[in-house]
Amino acid sequence: MDEILRVENLSIAFGHNRVLNDLSFEVFENEVLGIIGPNGAGKTVLLNVLTGILKPDSGRIVYKGKDIAKTKIALRTRMGIGRTFQVPRSFEGMSVYENIMVGGVYGRLLSEKEAGAGADEILEHIGMAGRRGEIAGALGLLDRKRLEIGVALASKPDLLLIDEAAGGLTESEIANILEIVRGAKQKGVTVIWIEHVLQTMLEGTDRTLCIAEGRNVICGPPRMVMDSPEVHAVYLGTEEDE
Ligand SMILES: Nc1ncnc2c1ncn2[C@@H]1O[C@H](COP(=O)(O)OP(=O)(O)OP(=O)(O)O)[C@@H](O)[C@H]1O
Ligand SMILES: [Mg+2]
Repeated sequence: MDEILRVENLSIAFGHNRVLNDLSFEVFENEVLGIIGPNGAGKTVLLNVLTGILKPDSGRIVYKGKDIAKTKIALRTRMGIGRTFQVPRSFEGMSVYENIMVGGVYGRLLSEKEAGAGADEILEHIGMAGRRGEIAGALGLLDRKRLEIGVALASKPDLLLIDEAAGGLTESEIANILEIVRGAKQKGVTVIWIEHVLQTMLEGTDRTLCIAEGRNVICGPPRMVMDSPEVHAVYLGTEEDE
């Protein structure tokens, strides 16, 4: 399998707080890579570095063979890197359909016609086909999270980064998200999926990477990673701290 992304020795510090520490891993084309790690492990910071919101102090981000560590955010989106946010950021006053359009028109610079042509398929994909006119601000949590993924999909990503889509959802609601991620993979999208709910990672991902203190603790098949002494030590450590 070819790799779509390779992260090499990525480091970033905020003052004395070294959040990513020589982090290295790769993502293969069309896989779903799950990333787990305790609170504060650096997962969201990693996504922010991958999308260009934050600049790393050192290290390389090789995407489709090019080092994009210094590439601007908007260009990375147009190169096919899409993301969701841990706290959904839909435009509250706009309808579900308008939000999807914004993803295509502003995320990927599609014409309104092109974005509109893809919108129905995305609404279908996220299970909101009959709800295009609903106002985003009035949606419940599951729908906001689905819409958030839909907006990211509207920018036609080759690599989709999902930051905690399952947080706050029930088991059956998480199954909805799982279906959406599976659907994205079927369409050829590569996914990096950050999550706290470990069970989701077993069912929904091809490989799991555990990070702690900004380091690669272990990466491999989900069950192997989940059952590993390394991961148990990382999560036990946080329980003892709390
Ligand atoms: N912009 C920033 N400026 C300064 N410190 C930051 C910034 N963003 C994150 N941090 C710090 O980086 C560390 C890692 O935060 P991050 O949000 O990546 O954790 P996380 O793994 O996503 O945790 P969670 O599971 O709670 O979402 C934390 O100590 C946080 O305070
Ligand atoms: Mg986070």
